[in-house]
Amino acid sequence: MAGPDRVLVVGAGAREHALIDALARSPRAPELLCAPGNPGIAAAARLVELDVQDPEAIAAAARAEDATLVVVGPEAPLVAGAGDALHGVGIACFGPSAAAARLEGSKAFCKEIMAAAGVPTAAYSVVRDPQQGMVAIERYPIVLKADGLAAGKGVIIAADAAQARATLDDLLVGRRFGTERVVVEEFLEGEELSLLALCDGERALPLASAQDYKRIRDGDEGPNTGGMGSYSPVPAVDEAAAAELCAAVHQPVLDELARRGTPFRGVLYAGLMMTAAGPRVLEFNVRFGDPECQAILPRLRTDLLDLLQRASRPGGLADVERLDWSPETAVTVVLASAGYPDASSSGDVISGLEAVDPAVLITHAGTARDGAGALVTAGGRVLSVTALGDDAAAARAAAYAAADMIEFDGRQLRRDIALRTAR
Ligand code: AMP
Ligand code: GLY
Repeated sequence: MAGPDRVLVVGAGAREHALIDALARSPRAPELLCAPGNPGIAAAARLVELDVQDPEAIAAAARAEDATLVVVGPEAPLVAGAGDALHGVGIACFGPSAAAARLEGSKAFCKEIMAAAGVPTAAYSVVRDPQQGMVAIERYPIVLKADGLAAGKGVIIAADAAQARATLDDLLVGRRFGTERVVVEEFLEGEELSLLALCDGERALPLASAQDYKRIRDGDEGPNTGGMGSYSPVPAVDEAAAAELCAAVHQPVLDELARRGTPFRGVLYAGLMMTAAGPRVLEFNVRFGDPECQAILPRLRTDLLDLLQRASRPGGLADVERLDWSPETAVTVVLASAGYPDASSSGDVISGLEAVDPAVLITHAGTARDGAGALVTAGGRVLSVTALGDDAAAARAAAYAAADMIEFDGRQLRRDIALRTAR
């Protein structure tokens, strides 16, 4: 007989907070644990101390806590083998093996899989030295991608030959991200779209579409960040369009990985560029997007716990017909600390949270308690504010009304999240 569900979520960001909140809505009332978590998550889950970079430590903690399911939030533990370590101790894991996580861990591997699977992506070549790189470039701008994990900083768009040469030197001679290979890729233009799919190794089941705002300032100006806001769904990509994209993008990748004996279980995140010539994959991630997760999950009416459990078993999603979504639009606004993304400020007192409408979802990322128990900033992205509304305009109004009540020194936010879709 199955005992109670005990779910351990690994991670400490707003994405993990959103996962915990969605799991807490499960009719099965699971017991929730989070490692290491943050002060916001502490309200909904018991926190467990853990070095999340260490797959064996994750497996040991899951065993010690008698977890029935582990949900790994960030990519690094998955690339390091958390899925394999959990498999080794017989605990269900939502998240791929290290072999399948290479889709995110290596840009060159990702390109190779897409080529083998016939998935549309930018034309590219893989180079090992700057000379070879310069020869591969036919026109500018050109996109240069460090091969390994680079915490979102490994993609450089070079405007001219001088910048390309300096970047290739930095990556391949200076070993900026410890990489030996660089993907030189055609520059694509269009709207970006995030389409995530739950995968059980065999079947890909698309989640609602979302858009992420990567630049720090309004109008997509300034440097790239981890993401300053998101909304879901994207009106042009309804359920039928998402299913079509999933059949052309996620499913062939799943089939190719299964064929190679490394089936993908977990969430497969495709970053797409909707070009004039059709959709092209920019990247795959092997985990939920942050802040996309915060906008997607609040609209999901199907039990997330059941879905994640199914996706952790080979073929487990086979008899899920469709996912049930709220018809509302969700808008997520990220509040970041002073200096982000180049630096981040910590120790600034956060106020105003208690005044926020309880229907608005606040998820914590870089927050901490100071010696006196006050909530303070502790990182670049501090909080995400998510509101639902009948349309994008209503969701935006509610999200910004809440965001404007929350204060801390040097607070940064974008004012244009979902603005284009809000008529
Ligand atoms: P990635 O980590 O590969 O998604 O790249 C980060 C960001 O760089 C993407 O979200 C895009 O904004 C941009 N980017 C990546 N590849 C391309 C490309 N081939 N053409 C234009 N922009 C790109
Ligand atoms: N929102 C982009 C990412 O999670 O990688």
